Amino acid sequence: MDDYRGRALPVPTVPVDQLEGACPAAAGFIRLRYGRDASLADAKATEWMKVTEAQDGIRQFPLRGLEQGTVYHFASESSAHFGSEPGTVVRGRFRTAPPADAPAPVRFCVMACQGYPDRGHPDGHGIYPAMQALEPDFACLTGDLVYYDNDMPRANSPQLARYHWERMFSLPRLREFCRQNPTYWLKDDHDTLDNDSWPGRKMGELTFEQGQRIFRDQAPMNDSPAFRTVRHGRDLQIWMTEGRDWRSPNKQPDGADKTILGPEQKAWLMKTLRESDATWKILVTPTPYVGPDRPTGKSDNHANTGFQHEGDELRNWFAEHLGDSFFIICGDRHWQYHSVHPKAGLHEFSVGAASDQHAGGSPGHNAEYHRFHRVGGGFLSVQVKQKDGASHITFRHHDTTGAVRYEFQKQRTI
Ligand SMILES: [Fe+2]
Repeated sequence: MDDYRGRALPVPTVPVDQLEGACPAAAGFIRLRYGRDASLADAKATEWMKVTEAQDGIRQFPLRGLEQGTVYHFASESSAHFGSEPGTVVRGRFRTAPPADAPAPVRFCVMACQGYPDRGHPDGHGIYPAMQALEPDFACLTGDLVYYDNDMPRANSPQLARYHWERMFSLPRLREFCRQNPTYWLKDDHDTLDNDSWPGRKMGELTFEQGQRIFRDQAPMNDSPAFRTVRHGRDLQIWMTEGRDWRSPNKQPDGADKTILGPEQKAWLMKTLRESDATWKILVTPTPYVGPDRPTGKSDNHANTGFQHEGDELRNWFAEHLGDSFFIICGDRHWQYHSVHPKAGLHEFSVGAASDQHAGGSPGHNAEYHRFHRVGGGFLSVQVKQKDGASHITFRHHDTTGAVRYEFQKQRTI
């Protein structure tokens, strides 16, 4: 087996379920109990549902008719045999979004790009307890949540691809965070297939299309569209876009036909952004629009010349129609920054890598763009609050311990 530069890679010599970090699924049954009382005295229960090894023991339960702006508690109960006492019970909680007319305070966190061997702590990345300490209303996990190609053993089969998810999301700190906080998952290149990937590609036996399906099994998305928008109270609406499924080949010459979003998603994004009356509009995207990125060797995002045409189209459209109520938060780049595009005036915050060991690759500080630039691991938090007849929004770059390294604030009178 060779890597993409032709270097020999180690091949696993033991069965996948005996690899370090393996957390193989067992077949059985699972149900969810949930309610507003922490004791679950008022809990509703779903039917017992079958789970199989083929789907990694995963079952997603869409819950309808929940109250807005409300904390729910749940117990996930699993059993080897139908109808028998649950063998394992996992407790957790989540808060639903407040209604669109409520001037509600909101705080959320955004992270991206988590490697396994370079996670910085055996139990998982330091950002997870650091984000938990902020008690966010929700978090966005913005792509590269596993690295099929860079982290060994390389996931050149569906079975090894599932092993990467099992190994990562069974880490104690990630489990602890995910059971206490609602999370929105987005995918990027390394957690779909390989570096800078697009549809039709293959890595060993693993196809891009299998990578798309495996992400759908793992990510808590049910049957929701790959691109989504969510309203959190009067003052905040976020948009989360999909950057791999409808992408033109990166090597295609740039022009009007070359796209990352695809026509349907692009039309949806413009329509829903224009229709929104939220005070603050935030696009959470797996790849950047402003950058700046490395000047050569990259042709994968809207800050690269390889996607200049669509990048200019969208930057100009955002600037013309959304003004200073609009912000971009991106994953993908392994350094933190707050950039302002010199022509379009768009503000973009890169959340950076999830650990210090995973950070790097920046072309360096650029005075024309950067209000903040740091090569180090961490995450971003966003806080919206209402005070003295105005809505205040604060973006904070945190390091891996949660310490604030940079802060940017804006306010609007309502
Ligand atoms: Fe990454």
